[in-house]
Amino acid sequence: MIDPAPPAGPLRLDLAGRVAVVTGAASGIGRASAIALAAAGARVVASDRVDDAALRDTVATIVAAGGVAEAFACDVTVRAQVDALMAHADTRPGPLAISVHCAGVLQEKPFVDTTDADWDHIVGVDLTGVFLCCRAALARMAPRGSGSVINIASELGFLGRAQSAPYCAAKAGVVGLTRSLAREFAPAVRVNGIAPGPIDTPMLSAQFMQPETLAKERDIPAQRFGRPDEVAATVVFLASDLASFYFGQMLGPNGGAWM
Ligand SMILES: NC(=O)c1ccc[n+]([C@@H]2O[C@H](COP(=O)([O-])OP(=O)(O)OC[C@H]3O[C@@H](n4cnc5c(N)ncnc54)[C@H](O)[C@@H]3O)[C@@H](O)[C@H]2O)c1
Repeated sequence: MIDPAPPAGPLRLDLAGRVAVVTGAASGIGRASAIALAAAGARVVASDRVDDAALRDTVATIVAAGGVAEAFACDVTVRAQVDALMAHADTRPGPLAISVHCAGVLQEKPFVDTTDADWDHIVGVDLTGVFLCCRAALARMAPRGSGSVINIASELGFLGRAQSAPYCAAKAGVVGLTRSLAREFAPAVRVNGIAPGPIDTPMLSAQFMQPETLAKERDIPAQRFGRPDEVAATVVFLASDLASFYFGQMLGPNGGAWM
C-alpha cells in the first residue's frame, strides 16, 4: 500500500524557484497564468505558437514586476517543438515542476459545414496539443516523482454547444485525458484541469463567435464574463502545495454557468 507523505510543514502558495511552462502565454488565460505564476515565485517559460510582440509583452510584464520569465516559441501541434520546449524548461535551471496547457482555438460553424480540415485544426490544437504537452512534461516529471500538470479544458466539454462540436469534443477529450493521467501518474505527479466558463479574452469575441452566442454566454448567475486573472488564480492554486490532495479534478471558475 502506497502511503506517500504530504508536503512537510504548513502548506503554502509559494512557488519560489519552480520552473513553470505555460502554453498559449501570448494572450488571455495563458498570459494571465504566466504572470500569476511568476508573481508567486515561479520561473516561467512563456510559450506560444510564435515568438512575437504579444509573447514578448507577457515576458516583459513579468520581468518589469520583478519576476523571472523567458519566451519560447512552440506550436503545440508539432511534437518536435513540444519536446524541445519541455527539454528547454527542464534546464532553466530545472527541473520542470509545473506545466500549464492553455493553448487553444475555437470555431463556431454549423456542424454539417465543418470540414475535415476544421476538425483536424481544432482537435489538433485543443486535444492533440494537450496530449503532446502532457506526454513530454510527464516523461520528465514522473521519474523524479514530483510535478503539477494543469490542462485547460472548458465548461463546454461537459455542456456541449451548438455549432461548436469539434471544440466541445476536444475539450471533453481533455477531461478524459486529465482524469486518466491523474490515475496513471498519482501520487508522483498531480494532474488536474480547469474548466472555465466564459472568460473575457480574444477567443470570446465577435471575431470567433456570433452575437447571439455571446449574449447567451453572459446570461449566467455572475451576470458577467470572468477575467483571465480569475482563472489564473485557480492555476496558481493547483500548481501549489495548497492543492497537494487534488488529483484528476476539473475546477470550475465559471460564474455559476455550470454547477
Ligand atoms: N475564453 C473563454 O471563454 C474560455 C472558456 C473556457 C476555456 N477556454 C480555454 O482557455 C484556453 C485559453 O484561451 P483564451 O480564452 O485565453 O484564448 P486566446 O485566444 O486569448 O489565447 C489562446 C492562445 O493560444 C495560442 N495558440 C493557438 N494555437 C496554438 C498552437 N498551435 N500552438 C501554440 N499556441 C497556440 C494563441 O496564439 C493564443 O495566444 C484555451 O484552451 C480555451 O479553449 C477559454
